[in-house]
Amino acid sequence: MSKNPWAQNPWFESVAVAQQRAKKRLPKSVYGALVAGSERGQSLTDNEAAFTELGLAPHVAGHLPDRAMATSVLGVDISLPVIMSPTGVQAVHPDGEVAVARAAAARGTAIGLSNFASRSVEDVVEANPNTFFQMYWTGDRDVMVQRMARARAAGAKGLIATLDWSFSMGRDWGSPEIPEKIDFASALKLAPEVVRRPRWAWEFAKEGNIPDLTAPNLAAPGEDKGPTFFAAYYEWMTTTPPTWEDVEWMAKEWGGPFMLKGVCRIDDAKRARDLGVSAISVSNHGGNNLDGTPAPIRVLPGIADAVGDDIEVLMDGGIRRGSDVVKALALGARAVMIGRAYLWGLGANGQAGVENVLDILRSGIDSALLGMGHSSIDELSPEDLVIPEGFARRLGE
Ligand SMILES: Cc1cc2nc3c(=O)[nH]c(=O)nc-3n(C[C@H](O)[C@H](O)[C@H](O)COP(=O)(O)O)c2cc1C
Repeated sequence: MSKNPWAQNPWFESVAVAQQRAKKRLPKSVYGALVAGSERGQSLTDNEAAFTELGLAPHVAGHLPDRAMATSVLGVDISLPVIMSPTGVQAVHPDGEVAVARAAAARGTAIGLSNFASRSVEDVVEANPNTFFQMYWTGDRDVMVQRMARARAAGAKGLIATLDWSFSMGRDWGSPEIPEKIDFASALKLAPEVVRRPRWAWEFAKEGNIPDLTAPNLAAPGEDKGPTFFAAYYEWMTTTPPTWEDVEWMAKEWGGPFMLKGVCRIDDAKRARDLGVSAISVSNHGGNNLDGTPAPIRVLPGIADAVGDDIEVLMDGGIRRGSDVVKALALGARAVMIGRAYLWGLGANGQAGVENVLDILRSGIDSALLGMGHSSIDELSPEDLVIPEGFARRLGE
């Protein structure tokens, strides 16, 4: 307990409050990198706005005392239908993805670890054995085989292939300038922002750990440090984009539970199923990719109808509260993945902030189940929702 009776209680009651705190605490460029989005922000906005178009249809009595929300994703048991989506979070917190992994473990769920993450897959698996490793299509096949082998040896329980990136550049509210290394010159440049964020700077300073933007999971064998973030991005940009045969190759090469992330169309979902993926995530990369892609919650029902009996269908994008999770499950998702929600928690209060976010989602899911008179997430269906006409989008039928 703090001795100062006026000190702010670090607990927050909603993800929106976590975001406000993260905004106050993080340097402007770090906060801006998390807000992200692309071009005019049409997809970014729709991802959250679409949830506000959906209503809930509660009962007034006949509620049940027990409500179950445990499920599994890629063969891993989770205590709530929410897992951590991979995010290349650099410089939000010195413990980075290890803090996220610990929080997920403490709340009984899994983490997707980005290949652009700031912490190694070995450290993250140690913090949470239920780790899925995420890869982009970058480098040649030999390099990819070596990166998959490393993740497998570290104990990653599944592979997430994110293939929806199209290098769409430029956003109307400006991209933050991110230095490759926090060396003396860039520190001077960043100084005015950092001076206004002493708590963030202190977190790094006390660990003796200045944010160093490298991607350790992309290190060549025998190298202890990975390439810089920008060198890694260059490799990715100059790699020939994958064919469907490449996707099949990757899934076979991994040889275990495999998720294709970024699916928006029914024809792509069917193709992914036919070539043997275990799961897909219906996603538009949090609105950071091709602007104008509809919110995933709008395309989810058509995709879940088409392939939901054959493979696991997850969704991510715009989840900020437990009722959003319930809406996604009612429209056919097995579970959801969260991105910014946990990043705001991490920025606001480190590992405890991420746990706080998972607790908010858990209690929101529980309230919605209670209100709807259900004893389990398995009972959720579109009947529980108020769905306006024209809400859904069916792409590629
Ligand atoms: C800052 C940031 C970094 C991201 N980095 C990655 C990444 O490295 N790999 C990936 O598959 N998705 C990445 N994503 C996308 C997320 O996994 C997820 O699809 C998205 O955040 C979901 O939307 P939400 O933030 O509204 O929950 C990133 C998203 C954000 C906001």
